[in-house]
Amino acid sequence: MDILLAIASRRDERGTLPDPLRNEVVLRLLDAGRLSGSSKNGQPWVFVVPGSRARIEELAAAVFVPDNVLNAGLVVAILVAGKGPVSFDAGRAAQSILLAAWAEGLASCPNGIADIDAARRALDASEDETPVIVLSFGLPAKPRDPNVRSAAEWSERANRKPLEEVVRWLP
Ligand SMILES: Cc1cc2nc3c(=O)[nH]c(=O)nc-3n(C[C@H](O)[C@H](O)[C@H](O)COP(=O)(O)O)c2cc1C
Repeated sequence: MDILLAIASRRDERGTLPDPLRNEVVLRLLDAGRLSGSSKNGQPWVFVVPGSRARIEELAAAVFVPDNVLNAGLVVAILVAGKGPVSFDAGRAAQSILLAAWAEGLASCPNGIADIDAARRALDASEDETPVIVLSFGLPAKPRDPNVRSAAEWSERANRKPLEEVVRWLP
């Protein structure tokens, strides 16, 4: 998919079908995260994929909207460790994974963490690893075809502030 079309047509979608995703697809998504750039190429992240239902339920209890995680076909949590702009780095990795998922026709949503300590326990993370975000993925409950509109048309329809509000041109 054209990159601009992918960016413009992608929305965060919560209503996914919980069918498990094929392993090669999962590996492509995780590799998109691995390939992301980071400050000083520090790669401060670990991508954690909870396997058992019990662990997914434990993690779901730690996010703001548990249903997003409970009804996902794949859940990926991002942990970071170390100094520097590690949250920014994690954001870059997250967006790469989310866009790679969209290129596979998958719906996805970032999930904010309400209880960091509970998430750390659910993810078997150490004290120096901080859970930043939980990404939920699945087959879209209502499929959307990015090709029905141009990138410019998707951009027009997006629920976003207009460009003049978010850009400051300095002399
Ligand atoms: C850091 C972060 C945390 C988020 N947390 C949640 C969340 O806990 N639950 C949820 O349903 N959506 C969550 N979202 C999704 C946002 O609500 C979404 O990005 C925003 O509404 C734009 O959605 P759209 O792309 O569908 O227009 C989160 C997004 C980000 C970037």
